Parts: sequence; C-alpha cells; structure tokens
Amino acid sequence: MRKIDPQQVFDTPCKPSGLKGPESCCKGRPPSASSCMGTDFLQEMAGDVLSGMTGSVKSIPSKYLYDAYGSSLFDRICTLPEYYLTRTELEILERNAHRIMEFFTKGEGSLVEIGSGSDLKIRSLLKGLSRQGASQVRYVPVDISETSLLRSAHRLLSDFPWLSINAVAADFTRGIRHLPDGPKLIAFLGGTFGNFTHEQGVDLLKGFARSMNGRDRMLLGIDMLKPPGIIEAAYNDRSGVTAEFNRNILRHVNSKLRADFRPDDFEHLAFFDPNKEQVEMHLKARLQIRTHISEAGLSVCLKPGETILTEISRKFSRDRAMACFDQAGLVPVRWFSDADAWFSLVELAARAG
Ligand code: AVJ
Repeated sequence: MRKIDPQQVFDTPCKPSGLKGPESCCKGRPPSASSCMGTDFLQEMAGDVLSGMTGSVKSIPSKYLYDAYGSSLFDRICTLPEYYLTRTELEILERNAHRIMEFFTKGEGSLVEIGSGSDLKIRSLLKGLSRQGASQVRYVPVDISETSLLRSAHRLLSDFPWLSINAVAADFTRGIRHLPDGPKLIAFLGGTFGNFTHEQGVDLLKGFARSMNGRDRMLLGIDMLKPPGIIEAAYNDRSGVTAEFNRNILRHVNSKLRADFRPDDFEHLAFFDPNKEQVEMHLKARLQIRTHISEAGLSVCLKPGETILTEISRKFSRDRAMACFDQAGLVPVRWFSDADAWFSLVELAARAG
C-alpha cells in the first residue's frame, strides 16, 4: 500500500477556505467546526427520553450512548479482541482504499463521514489518496459528539497536515441539511446503519439518495450475518467495556436531563435475536427502580428484571441489504468484503430517474 508523504503534497496551493494543519501553509489555524446543536438538543433529548421511557417497551435511543465519555468507551470497544467489526472493516478499507479514493482524481470533492467518531477508519481511506486526489479532497466529518469531532480533527491534522477539514456537530438522524455542495463521497461506516430499523434505515438512505448527483457515491458499512456465538461475544466482551458503554447512557441522561439513575442498579444484557436478525442491547433492572428525570418532567418505575432497550444492531444478508438499497433508490456499484464475508463495504450510487 502506498503511503503519502505530506511533503509530496505540500506544494499544492493552500485553499483559502477550509482548515489546515499547524505544519501547513496556514500555520496555526484550528479545524473549522460548526455546531448544529444548541439548546434544542436538550429539548429533543428530553422529548426522545420521554417517549422512549413511556412506551410499552422502555427504550432510550442509541445515539445518546455517545457523549464524550461514551465516544471514548466506544473507541476502546473497537480495539477489543471480541469486537471483530472494526478490524474487519479496517482490513477491507485498507485493501481497497486506493480504488475507493479514485473518486477524488476526477476533480474537487468532499469526503463526508456520517457519524465519524474516531479518526481510525478515515485514516486508512486518506492513505489511499493519490497525490492529485489529496489536493482535491475536503473532509467533512459529521458527528453528534463535538468533543470527539475536535479530538479526531486535531489528531488527523498532525498526520495529514495538508487536509482541509470542515467538522459538523449534528445529529444526522434528524435529517442531513448540512451536506456540502459539489461532488461528494458519503462514507457511512462502522455498521452504524444497523442501529436503525428497516423503515428508519430506508428513510435515512432515501435522504442521502436525494442529495446525491449522478457522480456522487455512498460508501456504506454493514455487518453481515454470521454464527450467533461470534456476534454475541462481540457485544459481551470479557473486559466489561461494552457493559460500561451501555450503562453510560444513564449517566448521560443523568447529566443532561437531571435524572437520578444509578447505573450500577442495571445489568448489561446483549443477545442476538435470530428472527429479527439483530443484536439487542438492554439495561436490566436488578431491583425495583424509581427514578425522576427532571428535564423530561417524568418519574419512571421499573420492575425487577424489566429492561430498557438501548440499541439494536442489525446483521444483514446480501438479499436483505439489497432490499434496503432498492427501496431507498440506491444501486450498488461495487461490493467490497473480507475473505469470510463478515463485513461489507458497499459503494452505492443514486438510481437514475
Ligand atoms: C457503532 C453502532 C456500529 O452496533 O456494533 C458497539 C455500537 N454497541 N458495541 C455496533 C456498539 C455495542 C456499534 N456501532
């Protein structure tokens, strides 16, 4: 694999807008970041938690797993031996980065990353850029955690000082209004797509499809069906990081919505449901629980053994994935996989007409 020497791309002209690393010609400029989350974030969170905790099956949307601490716990999950997803996806990315990033040899464009999290995956894509591509790409990470966005942007700039970055702090599940104009490759990696139900997932993809022009592409990471034991181990790691990650959603609710959950009163529960072809992650009450969620104006009671659903993570067959794409108006252009077909990266285009 070819690595880019920053020196090689240094003689490219410095674009006036966009963000340059400390070592580059725009010395000392911090990454540009715009936040689309103000006070309404808290209101929306209160509304989400209120409707989730008053339903017949209690739930909290999985996006609230990702505050600053939750995002760092997730980064640790990605390095766990049981969590095959990240390393498998990385292997596919590394092997195919050059082919995928050929997109940027055809002119200027944006590499948008939805739910970017850590900079691990985008790094392997950037390494696949040709010298010409490197001068034409602008990186636009979109993530719900501002802390995680800035941390990743700074880390990236120390290794790719020539890179333009426009970070966007936004909840992409509420629609994607902030996509850049011009050609774009939208990377939606990590299997995050699996956190949505079929209907939600199709709606989300439809939104992306509508924003895509003929030349635009989406790179979608999906976790495939495989023996349940392997899947369940990935969500029940021996070191207990996933359990901590799961319980952290309650700490996040405590701090943002002034609630009084005691995370230790809940047991981490994650299992694969073969009928729904998805992992479900729950928090199971060890005892009778009463909590007050001030900002949601809500008191909740849980019986011992009752659970709060905090995440679904769907595992796809090729057919099921194809059905999603088709319903969303997307067509696969190339399909990248590992040797065991545990994980797939699908390059998609908007269907014409
Ligand atoms: C980041 C959504 C892909 O579903 O596997 C990891 C999150 N949850 N361990 C996944 C997660 C529990 C992860 N995604």
